[in-house]
Amino acid sequence: SSCEQLKIAEVRATELTAKHGSPLYVIDEGAARERAREVREALQREARRIGTEATVYYAGKAFLCVEVARWMDEEGLAVDVASGGELAVALAAGVDPACIGFHGNNKSEREIARAVEAGVGTIIIDSEIETERIASAARAAGRRQRVRLRVNSGVHASTHDFLATSHEDQKFGQPLDEAPRLVEAILAHESLEFVGLHCHIGSQIFATDGFRESARRLLGAYPELQRIAGAPIPELNLGGGFGIAYTSAQADEAPAVADIARELADIVAESAREFGVAVPKLAFEPGRSIIGQAGVTLYTVGTTKSVALAGSDAAADPDDLGRAARLYVSVDGGMSDNARPALYGADYQVRIANRASDAEPALVRVVGKHCESGDIVVQRDLLPGDVRPGDTLAVAATGAYCWSLASNYNYVPRPPVVAVRDGASRVIVRGETEDELLAKSVIPTPAP
Ligand code: LLP
Repeated sequence: SSCEQLKIAEVRATELTAKHGSPLYVIDEGAARERAREVREALQREARRIGTEATVYYAGKAFLCVEVARWMDEEGLAVDVASGGELAVALAAGVDPACIGFHGNNKSEREIARAVEAGVGTIIIDSEIETERIASAARAAGRRQRVRLRVNSGVHASTHDFLATSHEDQKFGQPLDEAPRLVEAILAHESLEFVGLHCHIGSQIFATDGFRESARRLLGAYPELQRIAGAPIPELNLGGGFGIAYTSAQADEAPAVADIARELADIVAESAREFGVAVPKLAFEPGRSIIGQAGVTLYTVGTTKSVALAGSDAAADPDDLGRAARLYVSVDGGMSDNARPALYGADYQVRIANRASDAEPALVRVVGKHCESGDIVVQRDLLPGDVRPGDTLAVAATGAYCWSLASNYNYVPRPPVVAVRDGASRVIVRGETEDELLAKSVIPTPAP
């Protein structure tokens, strides 16, 4: 197979690494904006079809910086933040505080006070204890704070255990059957305005049945909540979690957002009828499905080494395609810039980005430079067998949860993030230097 020189938004990968260094996170601004618009429009169109409206929050935890918050704002999305730090970024980007949703299962009192004082549109209450904290912060600030109650609907989303969030035995939200009591407690506070339930069943979900079942269960609670409130419950937030394809093998499995939107709107309309309540306004919080595929990470190959598989346990693995050997390709980053393979066994795809090659494809594993064997960037893929030191590799779909989960393991500085658009690149998040990392160490002053 022959690989052309890779271009991202009309900029050559090699030009990007020459200018900004390696490894490098690259975001295609046009792709991110287009996708944000597409997801927002699909969800809003379907909401209108069932006679309501929808707010689409971009889940900043996937990847947030001032520039990206600004793009999302310009594309008509609200922003969901999960910490005081993310809140500060959204505010610095000029996002209207009323368009910010604030999440977290353990927001500090200081974070709550900051959010209330900034005029954050909605705070999601994760626990009973938080109700009191938010109510008193709102009282102190002389505001009436809009709040949602996060519940877990008991739906077991089929995804990695660490990414499922609405089964019973996990830390987020309150069980749905406790909602009446908790809503009553919320309504007892003059300083709180209860706008509805929130549920996020998990992340990187391909099967839509979990989303549908969860939405139906939530609406099933609305008649009783309506009785308690003495008025219809105006909103329902169904969270995010729409899965994306990381590899071409997943391309057919990943649901189209237009389909998810239609199925969710249908079930909301049906369930509202079934339970005899008005169709509430909807809210969604997609992160990965907006920014994931807009990102690419570029690396430089440092070493390669071939390991015989014959006779080893791997020889029996059908995924290894009956190959006799695996080529380990070491790059200049690794689990410090992409923790997902180590954390979730996530799959990625790789290609050579700096040259064409007609060499016979070899079974490769792209690994990082860190001190553990779980430091894998790409578990398994084929690359031209002449892949060699100095080559630039591109790993696709690294826009979500890569920079945001990055670490300085082994004192490796975080790479910069550049945005590319119309043939030009610019840094949107600065990279770190070894000096900056060294400067964190307190150097003891010698005793006199
Ligand atoms: N809303 C809430 C309340 C969430 O907890 C999350 C993700 C989202 C929305 C956005 O979900 P998304 O649309 O991006 O799937 N680090 C993991 C993903 C953790 C997701 C955490 N919550 C990963 O790299 O796969």
